[in-house]
Amino acid sequence: MEQNVLLVEDNAATRFGFVRYFSKDGYDVFEASTLAEASMALATRHFDIMVLDINLPDGNGINFIDTARANDPNLPIIVVTGEGDIPLAVEAMKRGADNFLTKPVDNAALSIFMRKTLEIGIMKQQQSARKRLEKKDDFFIGVSGAMLEIRDLALAAAASDIPVLITGETGTGKGMLAKWIHQKGARSGYECVELNCSSLRGEMLSREIFGNVRGAFTSADQDRKGLLDVADRGTLFLDEIGDMSIDVQAQFLKVLEDKSYRRLGDIKLLKSNFRLICATHRNLDLLVNSEQFRQDLMYRINMMALYLPPLRERRDDLPALVSHIMHSLGSSGELLSDEIMKMLYDYSWPGNIRELKNVLERALLLTPSGAPIRRVHFENLTPSRIPFLSQNQRTVQDVEEAHIRVVLEQMGGNIDRAAKSLNISRATLYRRLKQLNN
Ligand SMILES: Nc1ncnc2c1ncn2[C@@H]1O[C@H](COP(=O)(O)OP(=O)(O)OP(=O)(O)O)[C@@H](O)[C@H]1O
Ligand SMILES: [Mg+2]
Repeated sequence: MEQNVLLVEDNAATRFGFVRYFSKDGYDVFEASTLAEASMALATRHFDIMVLDINLPDGNGINFIDTARANDPNLPIIVVTGEGDIPLAVEAMKRGADNFLTKPVDNAALSIFMRKTLEIGIMKQQQSARKRLEKKDDFFIGVSGAMLEIRDLALAAAASDIPVLITGETGTGKGMLAKWIHQKGARSGYECVELNCSSLRGEMLSREIFGNVRGAFTSADQDRKGLLDVADRGTLFLDEIGDMSIDVQAQFLKVLEDKSYRRLGDIKLLKSNFRLICATHRNLDLLVNSEQFRQDLMYRINMMALYLPPLRERRDDLPALVSHIMHSLGSSGELLSDEIMKMLYDYSWPGNIRELKNVLERALLLTPSGAPIRRVHFENLTPSRIPFLSQNQRTVQDVEEAHIRVVLEQMGGNIDRAAKSLNISRATLYRRLKQLNN
């Protein structure tokens, strides 16, 4: 791919030589003989690298580094200084230039420099994209009546020690809310241990929860702490509790009743003082009716119920939520046009806040920083996907299934990419697909 170079140099002969050499080398060179011309060029075109002379008719190139950086923080910059101007070169590096060369410039050397500097530029870009993605989430409450009610309940939950059950569709923020409650409570100085009950079955799950002593089963070559141990004085967060198998449910119920437990293969009774938070996207009442979930366990874990409504039922929260998420993604204030906001309003968000976050993340990654976000980046939010969602009689499973199918189709059946877009692991996606096909 051709690389775009901005050459800022007032000497016409030097420019001529540069263009002749580098045009052959697969570069597309844009020439600027003054800083004013360079400014114009940066404002209107994208460049992969800038080669900057220091002494220019309308100013000092060093001061121009800041201008260029403000426009694109990752633009690789090579500064060219007069012979013997090492202090200037040092100053340029301090201001953020990536490399410098002194005149007379040998084009072959410059060519190597350019390639190296470009590599650094690509790495920087990847890094800042990664940083954007790694930014820590914080739980956003919102302004809708439903969410204000939830905040009051969640604060009450945090102030108390009773078991909380969080329900809601996938991506509504159940996991985040659980951690938020832990953080706001008296146990925040201790661990919040999270276990996803859908990822482990039967004995594997009980091993994880209770731990084991050496020799408890064939592969148990050492004593192992269970999560109940680790959660002592902290919080035990059991995610997808609806997927806990019935035998483990019985064991766990006993822990809640006796406030004590045994490691697998042990006779010693251990105590753990943990606070319990559970979450599920499934309807526990239905599971109880179909005898897949123990009623006595449900009563125990459901002392306080928090239901997170789907995003489509709290559209009032969208503007604030969008700006909150964009901020958390490291957006430097990119704005969404009214037209795009309307698209977001009209869409039904089957994947809820997780999907909203993925969509915004994608749009931000496709937009150069500072530039307005374009409509095309939201093109897959076609309202044609709405009808299957506005039918409220659909179950969460239906909605999930439809959404998974849409995403899979969009990704051309590519499991890796579909899983990424759905923000679930490949293993989870495979499992869901298997369930869907049953
Ligand atoms: N209130 C919120 N504020 C900010 N981000 C949120 C909020 N709720 C959810 N998110 C974002 O959506 C993602 C999904 O949230 P979370 O994992 O808590 O949902 P969930 O309800 O547990 O979903 P699932 O049922 O699929 O496990 C999070 O990674 C977070 O980035
Ligand atoms: Mg979750």
